[in-house]
Amino acid sequence: MRVLIFVALLISFVYSAEVVKVEEKYQDSTKCQACHNHLVKDWQHSWHARSYEKNDEYFRASLEYVSKKSHKSLNAVKVECATCHNPRISVTSTSKAYEIDAVLGLDKNSKVNKAVNDTSISEGINCVVCHNIDKIHDNLDASKRGMDRVTWLKSGVMSGPFDDATSPYHKTEARDFMDKNPNKLCFVCHANDHTIKGDMFINMEAEYKDNTQKCVVCHMSTKKELYAATLRIDHGKPKARQIREHGFSGAHTASMWKDALHVSTKVEGGDLVITLKNDLPHNLPSGFGSREIVLDVEYTSAAKVVSKESVSLTRHYLNKYKKPTIAHTSETSSADESVPAKGEKTIRVKLNKSANGANVAVSYRLVNDEVRGLLELKEPIWSQKMVIFKGAVKF
Ligand code: HEC
Ligand code: HEC
Ligand code: HEC
Ligand code: HEC
Ligand code: HEC
Repeated sequence: MRVLIFVALLISFVYSAEVVKVEEKYQDSTKCQACHNHLVKDWQHSWHARSYEKNDEYFRASLEYVSKKSHKSLNAVKVECATCHNPRISVTSTSKAYEIDAVLGLDKNSKVNKAVNDTSISEGINCVVCHNIDKIHDNLDASKRGMDRVTWLKSGVMSGPFDDATSPYHKTEARDFMDKNPNKLCFVCHANDHTIKGDMFINMEAEYKDNTQKCVVCHMSTKKELYAATLRIDHGKPKARQIREHGFSGAHTASMWKDALHVSTKVEGGDLVITLKNDLPHNLPSGFGSREIVLDVEYTSAAKVVSKESVSLTRHYLNKYKKPTIAHTSETSSADESVPAKGEKTIRVKLNKSANGANVAVSYRLVNDEVRGLLELKEPIWSQKMVIFKGAVKF
């Protein structure tokens, strides 16, 4: 019995999110600039750097919406979402007693309130999120993600791709997930996004078609000859290294969408048939609920637009009263309309018989009309149509 209790304790010790406090000299990216400024600059433009309520309107509005709809305090929701969005937070769960204090407004000096407002987490997914990871427990069940799937190294030890790196500022440790198998690192968070009830609504890991294709090649860069640190450690010069840029460009960068799908059009049986082919190892849209691909068709006759059609490929989420809601507070959803990984999707639009041509545009939006309305998102980026394809057909 004692042995069993000991084993149980050991397992819970190893596998529940354990907070390791990061000392101030490593906490934020400004501390790395003196020697890694090129990588810090890349990262600053990324949406990893904006994974914090104050820096992402959509995230902030979602936190507030979830709190309102689930009758949980805003801070409790912040702590829950921090699992992936702010995994260096110093509090990892909230209690029923905390909820009562929050309702009564007695939580101002609580640990929870201090943790969610601490400036050390305001950089979102920063250097010490990825580079202070010791182990990734990918043998755990799918629900354990973000901070619940990793154990941290001691403060001041950086895991990286090189086994011969030495730095005067911090210790270094080489890890496979920084080198041979980096998808494992990305899947710590880019998998199993779930509703507050625990139902999965997106799982990029499950849909992923070819694990030999590395996320880092497309979302960081191919390896290039430069240096990891600007410090002159190699006979008065920075040491030459094969490195990757740290831009993590993705869905919020319009230029990334150009030709992300191969689009072909033909006329068949009274329909305009549009085929979207996806060569990527993950679906499109993917990643987050309520993303959208929009097809706009303008029928033309003698170069004049005579009619328009629009098709939206997106997912709609419903609450228990069958009313539209966001993914996190949903009970059911419409069918998955995404273009499958390494697959294709065909859309048929009724042909306008009086037209003799059509302009076809395929674009992407970060949020569909429904959710943008529910959350009252104001910034232009949420309604911007990022162009994937534009072409014309004659018939
Ligand atoms: C989302 C995870 C992630 C974040 C955030 C991140 N890195 Fe990295 N970093 C990586 C990966 C993965 C590699 C390994 C790339 C390879 O060699 O394949 C890497 C490599 C490096 C290297 C070795 C040189 C190179 O580019 O390969 C340095 C130095 C580094 N990162 C510093 C930083 C600093 C400083 C920050 C904060 C501004 C940062 N990283 C943020 C994932 C991350
Ligand atoms: C005073 C300079 C200096 C500062 C400040 C500094 N580093 Fe480094 N770092 C280095 C040097 C030097 C190397 C080794 C470079 C090499 O061998 O090519 C290095 C290597 C690394 C590596 C690669 C380790 C490996 O084994 O592959 C990572 C990751 C890293 N640093 C992260 C950080 C982070 C994060 C910060 C800020 C919290 C930081 N560094 C601050 C000098 C610095
Ligand atoms: C600790 C959790 C975590 C890890 C590890 C992580 N990500 Fe992310 N990633 C996020 C979150 C959260 C967002 C959304 C941030 C936001 O939009 O506010 C995101 C966003 C992104 C985006 C979208 C950017 C955009 O502009 O739309 C890309 C691309 C991305 N991550 C790639 C990667 C890659 C590649 C890796 C592995 C090297 C990785 N991530 C590792 C949590 C993580
Ligand atoms: C062969 C290149 C390639 C690989 C490999 C790849 N991606 Fe992508 N990914 C893209 C392109 C292109 C897009 C669409 C434009 C954009 O958002 O960057 C995209 C989109 C995304 C998005 C936004 C999805 C959406 O619909 O909103 C996320 C998040 C993402 N990728 C993460 C990852 C992660 C994590 C991995 C590895 C597990 C990965 N990608 C592997 C090329 C790639
Ligand atoms: C399992 C890890 C995980 C958890 C837990 C999680 N997220 Fe995310 N979230 C992600 C990742 C990864 C992305 C980026 C996907 C992409 O760009 O398509 C993301 C993206 C988002 C976005 C889109 C941001 C943008 O700029 O487009 C919103 C909004 C969001 N999450 C809200 C939440 C809320 C609210 C919670 C808590 C109820 C939460 N998330 C919990 C992993 C997670």
